[in-house]
Amino acid sequence: MDSQVEQTPHEKHVFPPSPEFRDAAVAGPDLYAAASTDRVGFWADQARELLHWHTPFSRTLDWTNPPVAKWFDDGELNVAYNCLDRHVESGNGERIALYWEGEPGDSRAITYAELTADVKRAANVLTELGVEAGDRVAIYLPMIPEAIVAMLAVARLGAAHSVVFGGFSADSLRARIDDAGAKLVITADGGWRKGKVSALKPAVDAALEPRGDLPAQDTVTNVLVVRRGENEVGWVEGRDIWWHDAMAAAEPEHQPLAFPAENPLFILYTSGTTGKPKGILHTSGGYLTQVAFTHRNVFDLRPESDVYWCTADVGWVTGHSYVAYGPLANGATQVLYEGTPDTPHSGRWWEIIEKYRVTILYTAPTAIRSFMKLGRQIPERFDLSSLRLLGSVGEPINPEAWLWYRHVIGADRTPIVDTWWQTETGAIMISALPGVTEAKPGSAQVPLPGISVDVVDDAGTSVGQGDGLLVVTEPWPSMLRGIWGDEERFRETYWSTFGDRYFAGDGARIDEDGDIWLLGRVDDVMNVSGHRLSTAEIESALVAHHFTAEAAVVGASDDTTGQAVVAFVIIKESQKADAEATDVAAELRSHVAKQIGAIARPRDIYVVAELPKTRSGKIMRRLLRDLAEGREIGDTTTLADTQVMRIIGDKVVR
Ligand code: PRX
Repeated sequence: MDSQVEQTPHEKHVFPPSPEFRDAAVAGPDLYAAASTDRVGFWADQARELLHWHTPFSRTLDWTNPPVAKWFDDGELNVAYNCLDRHVESGNGERIALYWEGEPGDSRAITYAELTADVKRAANVLTELGVEAGDRVAIYLPMIPEAIVAMLAVARLGAAHSVVFGGFSADSLRARIDDAGAKLVITADGGWRKGKVSALKPAVDAALEPRGDLPAQDTVTNVLVVRRGENEVGWVEGRDIWWHDAMAAAEPEHQPLAFPAENPLFILYTSGTTGKPKGILHTSGGYLTQVAFTHRNVFDLRPESDVYWCTADVGWVTGHSYVAYGPLANGATQVLYEGTPDTPHSGRWWEIIEKYRVTILYTAPTAIRSFMKLGRQIPERFDLSSLRLLGSVGEPINPEAWLWYRHVIGADRTPIVDTWWQTETGAIMISALPGVTEAKPGSAQVPLPGISVDVVDDAGTSVGQGDGLLVVTEPWPSMLRGIWGDEERFRETYWSTFGDRYFAGDGARIDEDGDIWLLGRVDDVMNVSGHRLSTAEIESALVAHHFTAEAAVVGASDDTTGQAVVAFVIIKESQKADAEATDVAAELRSHVAKQIGAIARPRDIYVVAELPKTRSGKIMRRLLRDLAEGREIGDTTTLADTQVMRIIGDKVVR
């Protein structure tokens, strides 16, 4: 690590914006003033200014039936028209929308006019396949331009997409297709990852076949397949269609219809505290307003000159809001990169920044920490002087990583915005405004104009200054509208703790300046490399293996990934002989990868004889976390068997 940065005393550092940055900044202090005078009216102004409404709205917010909010609900718009056609109509058709960089080094520059033409054709393809407003389409694609085209084509028809991250297994994909009742799946033969083609189509085939106790999937009628990896794929005649054939045969023109502001735009599955992922539902007008507003003001966007790059995959919410919808609604030029940061060499990201003269970079602390480990000599080989703003998302960024990011990547010039939000919030909620706020390393800082948050104690009383739980106190335009098919869970998870205040599930601290520091999840949700994983989901994958009698999973702190999955398992008596002859940890790790996806694979697996439980049988994860992190074991007085931790500690076998 960088000694110069390490020696810097950090927590007290603040970085005021430079006068030049402040004078030219897109956002000004007037935004806070306007929002505090009339919060709801402020959002109405933003919606009118940033979007095109086919039918203007007259009602801004209906919160008469909490927790279900309606924003701009008598207005109508077409989300894809807002992201595409209107930019072409206003004379920006020749502006580059996407600089796409394939992992093997192939590339494409796609203008707004070309992207619009592709989406029109794709909308006609989907219509031919029977997709209508209100339907759901599953998208399981690598980071290729067709992923964006597919999302926007679905949106153009008023249907809803459910993008499933390409790293998820066939089982996870099946569960998501079933839950949403998708009519169509859009996938690719494969995509490039780590120097080779990683197949996707076989997982779709497997997901649609009978699996375990499940019969063949019966809502999907077609599978559209983009050719990318050129790997051999199986083919189901009558069901499977090549994307390029369908696109070539499709009509080029397509008139976008207007849909109500509250029409569903997408469902995105995220991990909760049970084994079943939650299908977070977002709708159109409010979501697009807040993603466009935040993308413009938090990233100080100048669409005519900036080259913006968000490194997130479209399979996560960051890829929805800050690769697909926010940048395109604002007519931005952006980079889209297919592969991993270290292929074919560990300077690949910096090379891309140099090549496209990227001005705004938005990434996750995990990535920054892994670059820190590799050393500054790698980015220093490239010309990063085009960068003028850096962003961070997904997990708390430690001050050391923040300072390194600013010093080594931002040449001590660039503002950094640490943005707190969630799949459920749809868009950024807490962040500095560049050019306005003094940046404080490690703190996400202040709610954005129009957003009201608080930090409260267990009883819901504001802590003023100190530690507590983060709540959002007023409805916001891009808030989730529900959990797909499970209203009860929606109410229970987010609204049962503090009434009509939204409970985010994060611990937070308010410091003496009123700045907010995020302290991590307070539930059984882990954050690994900025990705949410549920302890319960991994536990149920582990106990589905014939070796396992019981399993407990915890998120232990990890220098690079923030948290890492650590599992404690008890082997069934009847399986002990077999297990002893096997590399149990390797076997269970690959089993979890197969069941859920490689991202859920435990870093460590400990085979133990007992698990620490309370008298009521609840596993005491806190103690396991102590053990996993190599700490002194905490208070064990509520354990049913107070000896158990000593036994586990002595007998831990990795
Ligand atoms: O714990 C918070 C953490 O990520 C969670 C949301 O995860 P997800 O829905 O997958 O969305 C990630 C991308 C928006 C939050 O509950 N989190 C997100 N951003 C930050 C953060 N923790 C600290 N600081 C952040 N900037």
